[in-house]
Amino acid sequence: MVKAWKGWKVSNVNDRELILDTISSQVATCKLCSLGITRTNPVPGVGSYNTSVMFVGEGPGAKEDEQGLPFVGAAGQLLDKLLNFIGLNRQEVFITNIVKCRPPGNRTPHDEEVEACKPYLFAQIAALSPKVIVTLGSPSTQTMLGKSIAISVAHGRLQQRDGIKYMPMYHPAAYLHKRDPALLEAMKNDFKELHKIIEQIK
Ligand code: SF4
Ligand code: URA
Repeated sequence: MVKAWKGWKVSNVNDRELILDTISSQVATCKLCSLGITRTNPVPGVGSYNTSVMFVGEGPGAKEDEQGLPFVGAAGQLLDKLLNFIGLNRQEVFITNIVKCRPPGNRTPHDEEVEACKPYLFAQIAALSPKVIVTLGSPSTQTMLGKSIAISVAHGRLQQRDGIKYMPMYHPAAYLHKRDPALLEAMKNDFKELHKIIEQIK
């Protein structure tokens, strides 16, 4: 299913809107995995439909489930600050997750949930044709890059796959758990690196 989207690009903005809105409405009634039963609201993703930069997190948390929007809780506030740090805001990028419904208790999504939900993410990527995808945290990085790599090693290292640049980063929640200043510094450095890449692809 995922393979079918590879190399498929949508150049017309109106078509892109139609496709992204269609994906959101499919997610709204989706019950392809059990997260569709326990969620309050689906969280398909939000942001610019005309951007080269996409952020992919792990899965909605409590606040996201409440509001139907990605990264609106504490981790989202830190993400906003990091975006602002490089002169961006969330309206200028597209933000989504590898699963569109909240895993109960914020547990890591199970493999079968990620597999069930992946076609939506891949369809969003095909519709947006981003030049850079930032993968936030290990589950997102491993899902997108398809291999088991520690985020402590992969973060900030640009990878290229199917004509898209991937930039793995620490998940903002990692800093909120540990409050380690060195971790925040590493995150800021990765955002600076992202800024350079965005300037190059403009
Ligand atoms: Fe469907 Fe994804 Fe929600 Fe599972 S997590 S019900 S696959 S939208
Ligand atoms: N953490 C995530 O990975 N995604 C969200 O949307 C919120 C918190």
